[in-house]
Amino acid sequence: MRKIQIINGPNLNLLGVREPGIYGKSSFESYLPGLRELFPDVEIDYYQSNVEGILRECLRRSYDGIVLNAGAYTHTSIALLDCIRSLRCPVVEVHISNVHQREEFRHHSMISSGCKGVICGFGLQGYELAIRGFLHHD
Ligand code: DQA
Repeated sequence: MRKIQIINGPNLNLLGVREPGIYGKSSFESYLPGLRELFPDVEIDYYQSNVEGILRECLRRSYDGIVLNAGAYTHTSIALLDCIRSLRCPVVEVHISNVHQREEFRHHSMISSGCKGVICGFGLQGYELAIRGFLHHD
C-alpha cells in the first residue's frame, strides 16, 4: 500500500468553523501534515469538493486505497455508491461524528455496502484509523 487518496465531501472545507462541538476545532488542512508524518512510507493525497459530480470523478483516479468522507451525500447518493462499486481499489468510509447518535436521517448510509469498512465517531483520528485499516488488512 503506497498511494492513498483522502476525499472529503460537502461542507468539510468548513472543519474548525462548522459546528465545532460536533466536528472539533481544527481544520483538515491543519490536521493533514501530522497525519502524513505518521505514515512516512505512504503517499497521501487530499481532495475536497462540495460537488457530487466532482467527487465521482475524483474517485476514479488511480490509488491503492481511498478514504472517503462523503458528508451529507453519504445519506443520499446512489451515484456515489455505483461509482464506488465500479472501482478496483478499496474505499473506507469515514465520519468524524458518530452518525448513529445523531438525527435518524444520518443513520443510513447509501455507500457503506460498497465500502471495505466504515469508521465513525473518533473525530479526525478516524482518517488515521482508516489508513491503518488499509495497511493491516490488505
Ligand atoms: C459527517 C456526517 C454527515 O452526516 C454530515 O452530513 C457531514 C459530516 C461526519 O464526518 O461526521 O457532513 O460525514
